[in-house]
Amino acid sequence: MQNILEQYQSVSEDSVSTWFRVGEVSDFPENSGACIKYKTKQIAVYNFTRTSKWYATQNLCPHKMEMVLSLGMIGDKDDIPKVACPMHKKNFSLEDGSNLAGEDLKIATYPVKIEDGNVYIGFAD
Ligand code: FES
Repeated sequence: MQNILEQYQSVSEDSVSTWFRVGEVSDFPENSGACIKYKTKQIAVYNFTRTSKWYATQNLCPHKMEMVLSLGMIGDKDDIPKVACPMHKKNFSLEDGSNLAGEDLKIATYPVKIEDGNVYIGFAD
C-alpha cells in the first residue's frame, strides 16, 4: 500500500517549479488556517497577520493521518510559528515542519508568496 505521506515532501524556495495561485489575500482568514487542493494534495495555508507572514503545510496530520491541520490553532512557541493539531494538540513548526515536542513526526512545508494581492504556493511537481 502506498504511504499517503509519501506525496508530501517539503519544497524549498529554490526548488519551486510551479507557483500555483490559490486565491486572493482577502479569501483567507486572518490568524487562522484554510485548506486548498493542488493535484491530489490537500494543503493548509496560514495567514499570520500579527507578523505579516504566510505559511503552507500539508493538511494531513501524521499522528493519526487526519486531514485537519488547517483547522488547528496557530500561534508561536519560543518565537517559532506553529500549528497545533485540533485532534490531539501536537505542535508543528510552520517554518520547518518539525514536531515541537521532539517526536518523530514531521509535516511538509511549502513556500508562499504574495503578489498583487494574490496568494501563490510553490510546488516542485
Ligand atoms: S491526529 Fe493530529 S495530533 Fe493526533
